[in-house]
Amino acid sequence: MNSLRLLVSCVLISRCWSTEEPTFPPWFKFGVATAAYQVEGAWNVSDKGEGDWDRLFHVHPELKGHPNGDVACDSYHLWRRDIEMLEELGVDMYRFSISWPRLLPTGFPNHISQDGKNYYNNLIDGLVEKGIEPLITLYHFDMPQSLQDLGGWANPLIVNWFEDYARVVYTLFADRVKIFVTVNEPFIICELGYSKGHVPYHQDQDVGRFLCNKNTLLAHAKAWRLYDEEFRPLYHGKVSLSNLFIWFEPATPADKELTELALEHWEGRYGHPIYSKEGGWPLKIQKFLNDKAMKEGYPYPRMIPFTPEEIELVRGTYDFYGLNHYTTFLARRARPGEKIGRWPLYGSEELGMVMEGDPSWTTGEVDWFTMHPEGVRRQLHWLNDTYGVKEIIITENGYIKVDKQLNDWSRLKYTKDYLEQILLAINDGINVTGYTHWSLMDNFEWMVGYNVNFGLYSVDFKDPNRTRTPRESARYYSKVTRSRSVNHRHIGLNYV
Ligand code: BGC
Repeated sequence: MNSLRLLVSCVLISRCWSTEEPTFPPWFKFGVATAAYQVEGAWNVSDKGEGDWDRLFHVHPELKGHPNGDVACDSYHLWRRDIEMLEELGVDMYRFSISWPRLLPTGFPNHISQDGKNYYNNLIDGLVEKGIEPLITLYHFDMPQSLQDLGGWANPLIVNWFEDYARVVYTLFADRVKIFVTVNEPFIICELGYSKGHVPYHQDQDVGRFLCNKNTLLAHAKAWRLYDEEFRPLYHGKVSLSNLFIWFEPATPADKELTELALEHWEGRYGHPIYSKEGGWPLKIQKFLNDKAMKEGYPYPRMIPFTPEEIELVRGTYDFYGLNHYTTFLARRARPGEKIGRWPLYGSEELGMVMEGDPSWTTGEVDWFTMHPEGVRRQLHWLNDTYGVKEIIITENGYIKVDKQLNDWSRLKYTKDYLEQILLAINDGINVTGYTHWSLMDNFEWMVGYNVNFGLYSVDFKDPNRTRTPRESARYYSKVTRSRSVNHRHIGLNYV
């Protein structure tokens, strides 16, 4: 049965018989990614501070009974097994995040947790010993509750607090860690966080969302400049942020302008101030949103202006573009009276825009996921043409599933098809230097809890040992990392 399936998949999904196998260049790094709150657990060991997700799930009355990350994959205790899995996968690098409240229990550097320091030092040393490069994300959605109580990303002082935190991380770890992501997906932090889809679980689409938009960029910029001035001369590493970038294509030629606005809305508000030559907000969306605020009677522009000094502070603060790509949508104007669905992330109503997959594309297992691998290649071209970025690292890309089976053929196919397009983009001349697949293992998927999975390894969340088991996609990926090729006989009959 298995063999038959393999044969069918082989014929359907790849040119298995091809003898010409384009391979990834030797300098291209394969990896996998996770994030602290999603995998670590150990939410209250030692002197760890309370995080905003801890507070949300422990205390918020509306979310009583919601699953949480108290134990998650228990990587705090099982990090040695995690490294073993990375070895099994044969990856070159591992992207993980530091839990700010674990390292700085008060949120401030007045007290650095010895326990937190030991945990990350052990992990980093364990990786380095096995020749796996650590890639650290400073902020992957979890904030000390002490700082959230003071307004979190809506308080302009967060910019300095984040810089203080970044200094601690660089001081402790930059001798062994050469790639840092400052902030993961400010889009999700601000757009979902201020529409009750994430922490801080506020409903404030008109003001809080835009304070957050600006402050995440300023915080990132300060952390980048700090590294650039004080740590780069010593360690010669790289720092950037990671943007979630849904790729849009116009549904019809008449939707071209709307699609451009959508790109500015989703990517430009988080990318343009950093990556464009001129810096500052992207103009079309700025005008669109500010006009809207005026019509609604607000005395202030919705997109909070940058001062000329701030424009300069943020502009050019990158060493690569950190791209989190999952999916592509067609964008079209909503018909009069048409109901706009929940996805995409609360931006479509504002723009009067519907996002949907083309009927010819394969839909995923959840409503927000369509498969259109060509989208990532076009997007990489767009980044190259629009910003002229010299290096791109794909810091997330992965496939959501609802069933937990080990035979995750759809994930395997997704991974293969997307990597194939990334390789084509590299061969087109786009300098993509790395890829960290989301995710190493099933983990705590924020507001969706444990109901969906992204893991190359499955995790048994009912088992106190949190046993991890490789899926077919893990076996496949381990062949890819070793052969540096995606489209070859190893997916064939003699594969397992
Ligand atoms: C986030 C991850 C998340 C993944 C899948 C990304 O937006 O960085 O934390 O698990 O998407 O939803």
